Amino acid sequence: MPVPVILDCDPGHDDAFNILLAAAHPSVQLLAITTVAGNQTVEKTTLNARRVCSVAGIRGVPIAAGRDRPLHGPRRIAENIHGDSGLDGPGFAGEPDVPQDPRGALALLRDTLLAHPTPVTLVPTGPLTNIAALLLAHPELAARIERIVLMGGSTGRGNTTPAAEFNVLCDPEAADIVLRSGLPVTMFGLNVTHQVRATPDVVARIAALGTPLSGLCVDLLTYFASTYREVYGFDAPPLHDPLTVAHLIDPSLFRLARAAVTVELNGTYTRGATVVDLHGVTGLPAETDVGMQVDADGFWQLIVDAVRTLGG
Ligand code: BDR
Ligand code: CA
Repeated sequence: MPVPVILDCDPGHDDAFNILLAAAHPSVQLLAITTVAGNQTVEKTTLNARRVCSVAGIRGVPIAAGRDRPLHGPRRIAENIHGDSGLDGPGFAGEPDVPQDPRGALALLRDTLLAHPTPVTLVPTGPLTNIAALLLAHPELAARIERIVLMGGSTGRGNTTPAAEFNVLCDPEAADIVLRSGLPVTMFGLNVTHQVRATPDVVARIAALGTPLSGLCVDLLTYFASTYREVYGFDAPPLHDPLTVAHLIDPSLFRLARAAVTVELNGTYTRGATVVDLHGVTGLPAETDVGMQVDADGFWQLIVDAVRTLGG
């Protein structure tokens, strides 16, 4: 049976590939997409989710817009990485032909969780604002959630401050609520997402598919490579978010460790850091599965296959 999934995302170049992977693979049943402010404003991330689905021929998956700012504090976006549109690089022709669901993200999450016959896996790959808001507003829906598989945090250093990763830094209180929810959480942070780099060889394999969708993917990766080179000096950009869905498809590609994970909410220089107790020194219960290692070749094969399957 395929894993029923809701993606909660902020596309975003790497979020876009996660949508493609979830829609393409038969092991995943993509029930809905909700969007959040993160890489860009929620208006832009919602338009981008619709654009990706439109170009990839992903029909019948409702897309609804969620929170436009964090639970507390100012909004932060990642224009330096994802550009003014949030998905710079390719030229998107015209309006997407996939509609926006008028319900809004919280109502779509609630309705989808209640309607599905079995508990659903939530896959957040942006700031955790929508998911925390859902858990606060509807604690009774926790029983309808199988698990949460997210991209965020790090066992080590950050990418937006020296200590904090972007998704967690955007809304530390939301991340704290999710990690302390009591639901099973699997976290893929920078320590493992930096193991999958979109090298020229990977880009060439996608280009060789020769479809309109593969061309769009190449344009996305080329832009992403340029900002990662400028901002971080990386030779090739890490494709963070699709580790989540790749894990659902083939857990054998990953090594995880069970650990206590807390979020720094108050540090002068470390707000938004995930403190991962890999050696059990805090005495806190080890309840989060933390991604440690990924088989990068196996991961990229899934991505190339997804772009091939969707054609375009
Ligand atoms: C995360 O931040 C965003 O820019 C990416 O989409 C990813 O979800 C990496 O820190
Ligand atoms: Ca993201």
